[in-house]
Amino acid sequence: MPAHPNFRPIADADGVAILRLHRRAILLDGVRAYSPAMVHSWADGMNADYQGRSAECGSLIEVAELHGAVVGFSDVLGDEIQGLFVDPGFSRRGIARRLAERAFARMRAAGHERARVTAALSGVGFYEAVGFRPVRGVRHPTRGGMVVPVLEMVRELEPAAPEPPGGQAGPLTLLALRSAGGAA
Ligand SMILES: CC(C)(COP(=O)(O)OP(=O)(O)OC[C@H]1O[C@@H](n2cnc3c(N)ncnc32)[C@H](O)[C@@H]1OP(=O)(O)O)[C@@H](O)C(=O)NCCC(=O)NCCS
Repeated sequence: MPAHPNFRPIADADGVAILRLHRRAILLDGVRAYSPAMVHSWADGMNADYQGRSAECGSLIEVAELHGAVVGFSDVLGDEIQGLFVDPGFSRRGIARRLAERAFARMRAAGHERARVTAALSGVGFYEAVGFRPVRGVRHPTRGGMVVPVLEMVRELEPAAPEPPGGQAGPLTLLALRSAGGAA
């Protein structure tokens, strides 16, 4: 069933909740594509200072909240998704898709024409579903000292639809209004 989370920028108090869901997503979902040793190496040495790291590199972390609990987050720097995770207890409800679409909208507004991600292999099915295509496989060193295969992917960002000139309704808007019975 689709969820309808609230989205907002990271706040001071979010670090521990983000760390918890991030670890759960890596350990429980990551094993779909990696060995247990690899996911433990991936999750090794994580800490709750998401806001500090994000401020340092200039990325934007957005959280998805359901009933007051943080259940997912995206971390985006320029045209790159640096991280996007959803708690396994809330998977397949469209939360990651909404986080990604919101990131695409911000990228477009900033003038980017394509989005990039270096995807864990456990995330490739999701990234394909939201329009990314593979570019090349690379090897990525984890914090725990192992090297894991990942996939560089890109997605074109179609330009935002232009506003009708002068804010007036264009022919398509009028047609939609008429068929909805909304126009005089
Ligand atoms: C990958 C991840 C972000 C997906 O989050 P989610 O909220 O469950 O994804 P959504 O519900 O928005 O899925 C949107 C679509 O992506 C695709 N998708 C999602 N998870 C998938 C999976 N495990 N395998 C294949 N396709 C998947 C589906 O097409 C899905 O649409 P559907 O449910 O209608 O079939 C989440 O499982 C996660 O955090 N995993 C942790 C490990 C990881 O690899 N993260 C990526 C880091 S680079």
